[in-house]
Amino acid sequence: MTLKEKYRTPEALEELEKVVTAEFSAIQDAATAESFRIKYLGKKGLFRSLLKGLREMPEDKRKVFGGKLNTLRNTIEEQFNQAPWEESSVPAEDAGFDPTLPAWPFPQGSIHPLILIRNEICDIFVSMGFEIAYGPDVETDYYNFGALNFPPHHPARDMQDTFFVSGDILLRTHTSPVQIRVMEHQQPPVRCIMPGMVYRNEEISARSYCQFGQIEGLYVDKHVSLADLKGTLLAFSKQFFGDETDIKIRGSFFPFTEPSIEIDVLCFICKGTGCSVCKQTGWLEILGAGMVHPNVLHNAGIDNEKFTGFAFGMGIERIAMLKYGINDIRLFYENDVRLLKQF
Ligand code: PHE
Repeated sequence: MTLKEKYRTPEALEELEKVVTAEFSAIQDAATAESFRIKYLGKKGLFRSLLKGLREMPEDKRKVFGGKLNTLRNTIEEQFNQAPWEESSVPAEDAGFDPTLPAWPFPQGSIHPLILIRNEICDIFVSMGFEIAYGPDVETDYYNFGALNFPPHHPARDMQDTFFVSGDILLRTHTSPVQIRVMEHQQPPVRCIMPGMVYRNEEISARSYCQFGQIEGLYVDKHVSLADLKGTLLAFSKQFFGDETDIKIRGSFFPFTEPSIEIDVLCFICKGTGCSVCKQTGWLEILGAGMVHPNVLHNAGIDNEKFTGFAFGMGIERIAMLKYGINDIRLFYENDVRLLKQF
């Protein structure tokens, strides 16, 4: 007769209780504790199989038996879980265990500085009503260039030394392709912030790396103007860099914006008087931006007679370097704990 067959009546359960309790109090060390656990409490243990057997019982019996069985199991399990087998089973001196030694230091991870900056920037835009969107790191030529109004063989493609995977497949060189992917799925109003990693075949140095993070912003609606772009980025800069911050707009060129601008923020170290961080200019270049080119809206299926929009893109590493005073971009990718644990 198996144990399962033996303990099938409420009376038999009383006997089971005696047996289990006796075995429980006989436990001496971690090893016997483990075999006790397997025998009674484990996945294939007696309690599980008895509970399974309930299904075959007539209803009236099942209630009484099931109730008792559950109470017994819970009591045993609770006692078992509370018992400190490991510590008490072996006398400390015998195990060569010195309880006066300091405890093991449990190393605790921390959030990577680039992720901290990314989250902080995204939070600010989310508080202004932007939604977060993501796109793939491996892109097609169409999304990375074509749809963004880069003409075929146009030298602007060389601005961004592309890693090609094969044929038309490449690693995205910027987060701007996510603009297209978002607009293809959503008619205005579109208010989106799109963080992600981008890749460029650049020589690695203290100032540039073969991959880096960007945050793309996009706002498309009726009557969106350059003034909205300036207002939004000024509000962002004040929250991120501090209230005395100011921004300055310079003309620039990107195939996917017209007009294109670059935005500098007042150096938050010297407040504009000139220092080594801003190379004595008083200003720090932080992002590229502009009004979304009508061709780009059209390529993404948006009526460019009815809607206008602005877009911007900023590099996360650069902002993190400025904010934390880190002077070598490679440090972000070396995973040296001495750097990471400072955050
Ligand atoms: N994609 C551009 C870059 O990587 C930045 C940018 C984004 C410029 C959006 C204008 C508008 O340099």
